[in-house]
Amino acid sequence: MSTAAGASAGPLQALASGPLAGRVRMPGDKSISHRALTLGALAIGETVIEGVLDSDDVAASARAMQAFGASVTRDPSGVFRVKGVGVGGFLEPEDIVDCGDAGAMAALTLGLVASQAIAVTFNADPALRGRPLGRLLEPLRRMGAQVVARSRDRLPLTIRGADVALPIDYRLPAASAEVKSAVLFAGLNTAGVTSIIEPIPTRDHSERMLAAFGAALEIDRDSEGARVIRIEGRRDLRPQRLVVPGDPGAAAFVIVAALVIEGSDVTIEGVLVNPLRIGLIETLVEMGGDIALDNHRMVAGEPVADLRVRASRLKGIVVPPARAASMIDDYPVLAVAAAFAEGKTVMEGLGELRQKDSDRLSALAAALATSGIEYEEGPESLTVTGSAHPAGGGHIAAGADPRIAMSFLVLGLGAANAVAIDDARAAAIAFPGFAALMGGLGAHFETPEPSAR
Ligand code: S3P
Repeated sequence: MSTAAGASAGPLQALASGPLAGRVRMPGDKSISHRALTLGALAIGETVIEGVLDSDDVAASARAMQAFGASVTRDPSGVFRVKGVGVGGFLEPEDIVDCGDAGAMAALTLGLVASQAIAVTFNADPALRGRPLGRLLEPLRRMGAQVVARSRDRLPLTIRGADVALPIDYRLPAASAEVKSAVLFAGLNTAGVTSIIEPIPTRDHSERMLAAFGAALEIDRDSEGARVIRIEGRRDLRPQRLVVPGDPGAAAFVIVAALVIEGSDVTIEGVLVNPLRIGLIETLVEMGGDIALDNHRMVAGEPVADLRVRASRLKGIVVPPARAASMIDDYPVLAVAAAFAEGKTVMEGLGELRQKDSDRLSALAAALATSGIEYEEGPESLTVTGSAHPAGGGHIAAGADPRIAMSFLVLGLGAANAVAIDDARAAAIAFPGFAALMGGLGAHFETPEPSAR
């Protein structure tokens, strides 16, 4: 049976497809969607947000904000209205707060609770429960939060925010926007100045949005060139009207599919092109990808552009570790692009990939092995040897990892043999309507015959 929906339970396979063509828009950026709902819940008055990503992850943020006393409604056209409780005004939830599979939501919300005198128990789906949160909790504990968690600081956990939180000067030990944002958000209800030193810059959506909401924020460089972000707490936030730009992490799958499927010509409108998020585009252009950025504009304090992507012959390159932070979620789909490139693509500085909800580097290596792609996995690196016509094939156990699921479906669209994933819902978690949107461009998906499962 041929299907464009792809979001029902069960396996889905991608088959070699003709040229992709057309114009599409991406769903709203996930990181920005979480932050808009969260800061709206702290502003005094009504924040109106268009283009919020309609996914389980973001719904977890919306539900949490309601549990803390904010009013969050979504009208039939998808516009969210959030009436906030004011900085420091969170109520203690009566029940457990469920983070689902949303690591970023867990980080942002734990940060907010850390400086409020309430106790909150958090739980999550199994994948996120497996993720040690010590490095996120460490600065929050220093600010005065008390946390009782499972062994290795894993969820479920209970956090009791500080009655009077202490401002800290915190040097990020690893490049993590989640940890940075948790400390910044804790700083919102902390008297005095909380400083974060960020040697390797990571996505700065929290900083941009805090500034838009009127937080007292300053960004500087120290003598060694590291970014220093200072926030003075206990200031009121002003409600905003926001439009969430298209997610470059979702565009990544369309871009790679259009590059590797011969004859393709696709335009993706309204994509976030924040310099701290476009490492993948830079890398694909270096590999020979024809990606033109046009119609640059600012949306909600973020740079946005339309992307025109045309099929290209790719060649392997060495992707520098310094770029990892700006494309950390995009390595699975880059590995698939590399499978179509001539020669070796060497990806370095991937330690952070092992810190995701799962160890995404091992999961990616396993998926490459299943589809017969030549690779070498190092402790913090991955090398893929490509060819113009990779064979493809295989049945990928994507588990709950949407990025691996979608990446290997893209492989199947360009390779000689179909590639199947075990559960089509995995893709829908991060990119609702992925299969339908790709189908509209000419991609071919179907439910595999039982013998192929
Ligand atoms: C996110 C930051 C990134 C990214 C995650 C979302 C965010 O994690 O992988 O999907 O919204 O701040 P890091 O904390 O590793 O930067």
